[in-house]
Amino acid sequence: MALPWVEKYRPKSFADVVDQEEAKYVLASWICARFRAPKDFCTRWAKKKDKEILDARAVLLAGPPGVGKTTLVHALAREIGYELIELNASDVRTAERLKEVVGRGLREGSLFGYGGKIVLFDEVDGLHVKEDAGGLEAIIEIIENSKVPIVMTANNPYDPRFRPLRDISLVVNLKRLSEEEVVEVLRRICTSEGAKCEEEALRSIAKSSLGDLRAAINDLQMYLSGGRKTLTVDDIKRVGERNPQLSMFEILDRVYRARWFDEARAISFNPSFDWEQYFIWATETIPVVYKEVETMSVAYDRLSKADMFIGRIKRTQEWELLPYALELALGGVSQIKNKPRLPPFIKYGFPQRLLILAKSREARKRRDALVEYLAQNLHVSRSYVKSEIIYVLGALAKSDSKIVERLSKALGINAIDIKTLL
Ligand SMILES: Nc1ncnc2c1ncn2[C@@H]1O[C@H](COP(=O)(O)OP(=O)(O)O)[C@@H](O)[C@H]1O
Ligand SMILES: [Mg+2]
Repeated sequence: MALPWVEKYRPKSFADVVDQEEAKYVLASWICARFRAPKDFCTRWAKKKDKEILDARAVLLAGPPGVGKTTLVHALAREIGYELIELNASDVRTAERLKEVVGRGLREGSLFGYGGKIVLFDEVDGLHVKEDAGGLEAIIEIIENSKVPIVMTANNPYDPRFRPLRDISLVVNLKRLSEEEVVEVLRRICTSEGAKCEEEALRSIAKSSLGDLRAAINDLQMYLSGGRKTLTVDDIKRVGERNPQLSMFEILDRVYRARWFDEARAISFNPSFDWEQYFIWATETIPVVYKEVETMSVAYDRLSKADMFIGRIKRTQEWELLPYALELALGGVSQIKNKPRLPPFIKYGFPQRLLILAKSREARKRRDALVEYLAQNLHVSRSYVKSEIIYVLGALAKSDSKIVERLSKALGINAIDIKTLL
C-alpha cells in the first residue's frame, strides 16, 4: 500500500519545516535555555532572549490544522536527540491512565541520544473536559512537576476552559502557510514523484487548502493516484464539476437580491446556512455582483468588519457577538447605497475552489470517523491508527471483504468509501 504522502514528505529536520521560522526560534530558544541540547543546534536556532520564553514551564503550539505543529515537535526531538513520548487526547481518558503513561515514560531511562525525553501532548483541545474528567488538571500537574520538556499542540487553545493551561505555558502561534509556500512544497513533491504538474493546477490546490498543507498534499496525492503522472487545471475542474453544490448559490442570490436588511439577515436562520462557507463565498462573489468600485468597496468594508468580529470570537469565544457579525456580513453586504440593478441571472465566481474543498472535507470527515472508531475500539491513539493500523487493515481487507462490510456497518459509511480510505 502506498504510504500517504503527508508522511512520506514529512520534514525530518527543523530546517525542512517551511514558513514557521518564528515558531522555530521560540521553541529552540526555550529548549536550549532550560534543557540540554546540542551546541550547533542552539547556535543556529536559539535566537530569542525574552524572559517569558526562557522562563516558560511548557510550550503550547497553537494554530490551524496542517501547518506543522506536530511535525515541528517531532523534528525538534530528532534534532536534540531526545526520545519523544507522544500522547493525544484519545489516549488520556482518565487522569490515572495519563499519570501512569507519563510517569512511566519519565522514570524509565532512555535508550538513545542525550538520555532526554520530551513529552508531546498532541491536540490538547481535543480533551473533552467532562468525559476526560481530570485530564486537564493532570496535564497541569505534570507540567508543574516535570523535569522534562513538555510541548502541547492545539487548534484552538483560546477556549476559556483551557485558560489554566495557557496561564502556565508559553503560547506560540503557528501561522497558516502562504499560498506560495504550499505551491512550492507541492512542486517539490511532483518532481520527486516524477509527475508533470501544471503550475496553475498546483496553485488551485494551494488556494483551496487555505494554508493547510496536509489537505493540499492529500489532494495532490488523490489527483495523482493510480500512478498518474500528469496534472492539469482541467483535471481539477473535472473533479470540481462532479460535485454540484447548489445551495450556496441560492443563498448568495437571496442575499444579493434581498430588498430589506431584515430579509438579508433572515437568511442566517436557514438551517443550511454555513456562515464560514458564506464568508469565503461572499469574498469571491462581491466583485462579480458589484462591478462599480465604490459599491464593491463598501461591501468589502462591511464584510471585513464582520470578519473582525469573527476574529475576536475565535480568540475569546464570545459567541454572543456572532449575530452582529452576521448582520454585517449579510445585511451589510446586501444593502448598499446606489446598489446596481442586478441582472436576472448572475454567474457567481469560482465554484471549483470550494467544490474541491468540500469534497476533500467530506473525505477527511470520513477518514476521521474511521480513525476515531478504530482508536476507541482498539484502545490505541489516533496517530497509531493512522501510522500503523490503517495499512494492516488495508492489506487484510484485500483478502477478506467482510472487514470492509463490518466497518461500513459500524460507521454508517458506504463500503466503497471505506475502501478508498484503506
Ligand atoms: N510547515 C511545514 N513544512 C513542511 N511540511 C509541512 C508543514 N506543515 C505541514 N506539513 C506537511 O503536512 C503534514 C501534516 O503536518 P502536521 O505537523 O501533522 O500538522 P498539524 O499542524 O496539524 O499538527 C506533514 O506530514 C507535512 O507533510
Ligand atoms: Mg497535529
